[in-house]
Amino acid sequence: MRHPAKSDKFSFGLWTVGWQAVDPFGDATRPALDPWEYATKLAELGAYGITFHDNDVFPFDASDSERDEIVGKLKDATEAAGLVIPMVTTNTFTHPIFKDGGLTNNDRAIRRFGLKKILRNVDLAASLGAEVFVMWGGREGAEYDSSKDLNAAFERYKEGLDAVAGYIKEQGYDLRIGLEPKPNEPRGDIFLPTVGHALGLIAELEHGDIVGLNPETGHEQMAGLNYTHGIAQALNAGKLFHIDLNGQSGIKYDQDKSFGHGDLSSAFFTVDLLENGFPGGGPRYTGPRHFDFKPTRTEGMEGVWEAAAANMEMYLMLAEKAKAFRADPYTQELMAAASIPELAEPTMAEGESYADLLASDDIDPEAAGEREYHYVELYHNAMRHLIG
Ligand code: GCO
Ligand code: MN
Ligand code: MN
Ligand code: MN
Repeated sequence: MRHPAKSDKFSFGLWTVGWQAVDPFGDATRPALDPWEYATKLAELGAYGITFHDNDVFPFDASDSERDEIVGKLKDATEAAGLVIPMVTTNTFTHPIFKDGGLTNNDRAIRRFGLKKILRNVDLAASLGAEVFVMWGGREGAEYDSSKDLNAAFERYKEGLDAVAGYIKEQGYDLRIGLEPKPNEPRGDIFLPTVGHALGLIAELEHGDIVGLNPETGHEQMAGLNYTHGIAQALNAGKLFHIDLNGQSGIKYDQDKSFGHGDLSSAFFTVDLLENGFPGGGPRYTGPRHFDFKPTRTEGMEGVWEAAAANMEMYLMLAEKAKAFRADPYTQELMAAASIPELAEPTMAEGESYADLLASDDIDPEAAGEREYHYVELYHNAMRHLIG
């Protein structure tokens, strides 16, 4: 497989390769490097960009000068390595102050603190040229249903998001917000658990035009949902602003494996959509192919870089297979036989009246009920390309 190119737009969160593998049951198994060391190594492996939370780079309690100095060093290192910073996000989950959330905390003073932390980080994101500002509300939620006035929690969530979006507009930043859904972990239940929930809330925002989604493969799969369908609906709604690709095996804790490790055939169709688009055209995703994974705790630093490279190699392998699948004349024959192109045709004719529709008599239900789709053969032909 060829080496990843900058034009592939592969990006990584610093917290991915930087995860020291502390989990609820065990201590760190890996050392902490400086942020710029991760960035330089990711560039060598073929990444075009890095992303980070504020506190992946500087401590929660950093003074202004400390913050500026560390960010400056990271900026120099990314420029020297030819990397861009397409996305920045805020940590509103590690410090105990956020144990009941930031924007939806019951405690108003904490909500104000959380909002200020986010706004400061919006300034940082804009100053580094980021295009997307991800908001993953990992601590926005509850363990107990008795904990919250849920109506008020959604009002405060909307207020908080509108405040951030309104600030972006007031400052004139060229930045859009990507909400990242997740069903649970660290909270028992997280607000905005799926792509669909987030789309519903965005539709109610005052500044929803610059608020979209950053769906993560494993998070939809933790909810038993189909990631490819999730990003497809976000694309259809004009809301797919960013993506977090990784691997997950079924409905369990957030595994954050390397991309494609887990549900491989689902990953194939994700890449097929990202690289080849919908069969009948329609909106395309052109942003970074961003990996949000965690090298498993068993890995040392060698394994960390192997796991990072695996994401990109997997994506490129799947992209090649997906291209061949789409270009295969047999695939096109099967798609036509299944009437897939016909789904792009509006159900009612242009200018057709309801009376005309109701009076039309153009189908024999018995015969139509007998038609075949050959969906199994079509899917199986994808598998021939994938593993044949
Ligand atoms: C997770 C989440 C987080 C967020 C990240 C962005 O795995 O639970 O993906 O890693 O993506 O914090 O804010
Ligand atoms: Mn995750
Ligand atoms: Mn993520
Ligand atoms: Mn993650």
